[in-house]
Amino acid sequence: MRVMGILSGTSMDGIDVAVVEVAGEDGTPGVPPCFFTTSPYPRDLRDALEGVALSGREVSAGTLASLNVAVGEAFSEAACQALRAIDGVELIGSHGQTIAHDPSPPAGGGRPATLQIGEPAVIAQRTGLTVVANFRSADVAAGGQGAPLVPLFDFLTLRSEHESRAVLNLGGIANLTFLPAGCAAEHVRAFDTGPANMPLDEAVRFLFEDAGAYDRDGRIAAQGRISEDLVIRLLADPYFAQEPPKSAGAEQFGPQFVAEAVRLGRALGLAAADVVASLTEVSARSVIAAVPAQCERLIVSGGGTHNPFLMGRLVTHAARSHPRLAVETSDRHGIPVDAKEAMAFAVLAYRTLHGRCGTLPAATGAREPVVAGTIVPGKNYAHLMRAVWDAAPREGT
Ligand SMILES: Nc1ncnc2c1ncn2[C@@H]1O[C@H](COP(=O)(O)OP(=O)(O)OP(=O)(O)O)[C@@H](O)[C@H]1O
Ligand SMILES: [Mg+2]
Repeated sequence: MRVMGILSGTSMDGIDVAVVEVAGEDGTPGVPPCFFTTSPYPRDLRDALEGVALSGREVSAGTLASLNVAVGEAFSEAACQALRAIDGVELIGSHGQTIAHDPSPPAGGGRPATLQIGEPAVIAQRTGLTVVANFRSADVAAGGQGAPLVPLFDFLTLRSEHESRAVLNLGGIANLTFLPAGCAAEHVRAFDTGPANMPLDEAVRFLFEDAGAYDRDGRIAAQGRISEDLVIRLLADPYFAQEPPKSAGAEQFGPQFVAEAVRLGRALGLAAADVVASLTEVSARSVIAAVPAQCERLIVSGGGTHNPFLMGRLVTHAARSHPRLAVETSDRHGIPVDAKEAMAFAVLAYRTLHGRCGTLPAATGAREPVVAGTIVPGKNYAHLMRAVWDAAPREGT
């Protein structure tokens, strides 16, 4: 079955669309994807989302309802463009845009909750296709973090019979999946090691007063000097010592973390580029410190792979502490670095349609695995359900 995955990550740098051929009972995807593209959000929508998403700011129900439809329209536009370029897509998995994620609020601080917007009914209406969305809520309802959800995809595509591997995504946050040699799904471990690009984007925007900027190609960090003092102080953040399962977001490594880094940097007499270089070093060091010693290969994806300074520091630290560890990008395995997460949500949608669990409790901390997501029927729903029924194993056969 040809399935499309659509996603916009926490950085809101664009809407990723991937189309993969998914087959079999477990939903193993063919690699490379048949199609992949990233298209930017309309500027005004991105501005509106930045005012709301993960900001903790008050927002009216009407504004939220309208944004939900606006994101649905932007995702539909990206989906329809892809459908003009590639035939035969039958199902869409839409992650949506996370605007709130608080799976473990402090006592008295509300209920465990996560919210991704991008109305799936709009996508189903405009594409005519059945859409699976709202992938995180069932896991949160089962006591989990609702994240990370990509480890099952890592297991299906990158597990090796002979080699212990770690799979790393350098998005806003750094997500690590550990796949011991010959592992079964229940042996997969996954968690957020801490920051990747989020504090770098935030620091560049704050220090250089440039709203949409980021450290393109790591050029700012390359002009700076890593301050060991600052790095050590930032690595003292309690998140790094916390035992997994754990997940991080803007609450841990967003504006407050960067404000502290800037304050310390000023006290140490550092230049702006030194702060960016040191924050990049914190991302690299915290990732490598979390890679299990027996790992032989580290397979990296996400926007951070485009930052040579970050990748250089990663390789340097890997060589020091894990001399047997080969570091490479997921491209080598047929998974384009920017396409992996969209591919993963295509696989999850397929599994949901077939009634298969999409989560790993060892990664999310949930009581049990769950079939993830809400199915919104499109015009092809009856046809799809017949195909699923025909493919279902029969008792006694
Ligand atoms: N050429 C580049 N040089 C440096 N950094 C880059 C480059 N291209 C992308 N990035 C970084 O990658 C980030 C986007 O990465 P990605 O799309 O993987 O994250 P995301 O959309 O936030 O997803 P997630 O929700 O998984 O964190 C950008 O915000 C930027 O910091
Ligand atoms: Mg992105």
